[in-house]
Amino acid sequence: MNYFLGIDVSTTGVKALLVDRQGNVAGSATSDLPLSTPKPLWSEQDPHDWWDGAVRSIRKVLADTGVGGAEVGGIGLTGQMHGLTLLDAAGEVLRPAILWNDQRTGAQCDEIRRRLGRAHLIQVTGNDALTGFTAPKILWVQENEPEVYARVAHILLPKDYVRYRLTDGFAVDRADGAGTILFDLKTRDWSPEVLAALGIPAAWLPKTFEGPEVTGRVSAEAARLTGLKEGTPVVAGGGDQAAQAVGVGAVRPGIVALTLGTSGVVFATTGQAFIEPEGRLHAFCHSAPGRWHLMGVMLSAAGSLRWYRDTLAPGMGYDDLLAPAAGVQPGAEGLLFLPYLTGERTPHPDPLARGAFVGMTVRHGMAHLTRAVLEGVAFGLRDSFELIKSAGLSSIDQVRVSGGGARSALWRQILADVFNAELVTVNTTEGAAYGAALLAGVGVGAWADVDSACQSTVRQTGATEPRPGQVEFYEKVYTLYRGLYPALRETSHGLSGL
Ligand code: XUL
Repeated sequence: MNYFLGIDVSTTGVKALLVDRQGNVAGSATSDLPLSTPKPLWSEQDPHDWWDGAVRSIRKVLADTGVGGAEVGGIGLTGQMHGLTLLDAAGEVLRPAILWNDQRTGAQCDEIRRRLGRAHLIQVTGNDALTGFTAPKILWVQENEPEVYARVAHILLPKDYVRYRLTDGFAVDRADGAGTILFDLKTRDWSPEVLAALGIPAAWLPKTFEGPEVTGRVSAEAARLTGLKEGTPVVAGGGDQAAQAVGVGAVRPGIVALTLGTSGVVFATTGQAFIEPEGRLHAFCHSAPGRWHLMGVMLSAAGSLRWYRDTLAPGMGYDDLLAPAAGVQPGAEGLLFLPYLTGERTPHPDPLARGAFVGMTVRHGMAHLTRAVLEGVAFGLRDSFELIKSAGLSSIDQVRVSGGGARSALWRQILADVFNAELVTVNTTEGAAYGAALLAGVGVGAWADVDSACQSTVRQTGATEPRPGQVEFYEKVYTLYRGLYPALRETSHGLSGL
C-alpha cells in the first residue's frame, strides 16, 4: 500500500489522483463531463457519466504511472456538493441529478423556511434554505415529478453515487451531509426534526461518517472495471470545499483558505459549530473529525475573469491580459466592477443579482477594465472575510490562497491589500482530490490524523504582504463598492424579468 487515490467528481470532470506515502503526486487523470441545462436556471448531470468518468480516470492514472491496483492502499472521495441523486429500491438512477448551481427551487426554499421558521432552520442546520442546497431540490421533485418521487428509495450526493458503484454501499461524509441542510450541525448527523418537517424518510439517507473513516471496500465488479484491487478500503472523504481545505492544510482555527476557482470561496475552520445568525455564511462540518467550518461562496470569481477574457479578448493568454493592469493605479482611476455574473450566494443570496462596471469615463481603457475585474472579485471575497470575522473568528493568523486565479502575482497583491492580510501560497496544487487522498491515508493509518497528514505534506512556498498606503486606499474604494449591490438590486431584478 504505497499509494492513495483521491477521486474528485467535479462538475467539469472526474479526476483520479495518485499520491504516495510521502505526499508526492505520482500522477493524475481527468475525464471531462457533459453538463445539461434543459431549461433556463436548470443544471443537471447523468450520474452514469460520473461512474463512467471515474472508471476511465482510474484506469488511465494506473496505466500512465504503472502503479498496480494492489499498490493502492486506500481511496478517498470528494466532489461537487449539494447535488441531488435519486435511486430506486434496485439502486437504479431515477432521473438526472440536479446540481449545486441549479436555481429552480426558489419556491421550495420559501416553503422550507415556512415549515421550520427561518431563524430555527439556521439554528439547527447552520444555514438558510438556498436554491443550491439539496433539501429544496427534494421538495421540487416531490411537487413536480410525483411519479419519480413515489419510487425514491435512496438519496445520494454526487460523489456518493460513485462510492455506491465502487463499494455497493450507501454512505456520506459529514461535510457533504451538512450541505444538504437536512443535518443537525451540532450532532453532525441527520436531523430527525428537519426530516419530519419535510416528510423525508430517514431510511432514504445514507449512513454518515467522519472524513477519514472507512465506509466500505472495492467490490469484485468495480475491481474488474477499474483495475483496483477487490477489498481496497474506501474512506468517506469530503465535499469539495472541505477536502480542498485539507489539501492546503487549512484544518485548524486561525488558517483561512481562499480558493480562486470559477467560484471563489473563503473558508475558516472552527472548533465548534459556529453559526452566522442571519445565515449569510454557510456553516458545515469539516472533513477533519470533530471540526466545523464557516464559508462564504462567490459564484463567479476567476469565472468573472474568464468571461471578461472570452468576451473582450478571446484567445488572449491570461499573462498578456493581466500585465497592463499592473500599470494601472489601485482603484482603476475610479472604475468599479460588480462580479455577480451568475447571481450570488455570499453575502447577498440572490440568484437574480447581476454584474456591472460602474464609473466608466473616456479615460478608461482595457487595462483599467481588467484591473477593475480583479479588484471587484477581491472586494466581493472581502465581504465573506468580514462576515467570518464578525461571526467570532477574529484571530486569523494566515490566509492560504489556491486555485487557478492564485497563479497571478498581481491578483495575490490586490487580495492581500484589500484583505489587509498576509497571503500564503503552498506546494500542494491538486485541490480537493489531494485532500481526499490524504483522508484515505489517514483512514488506513499512514498518518495518525488529519493534522499530521497536513503537517507532513503541505509546505508554504511564498507570501504576499499587504502594503501600507494601498490598504487604506482600498478601504475607501471598498466602502464605495459596498454601495453597488443595494443601489442596483431593483434594476437587476427588473432586467431579469424582461
Ligand atoms: C459549495 C458549492 C460548490 C460546489 C461545486 O457550497 O456549492 O463548491 O461544491 O464545486
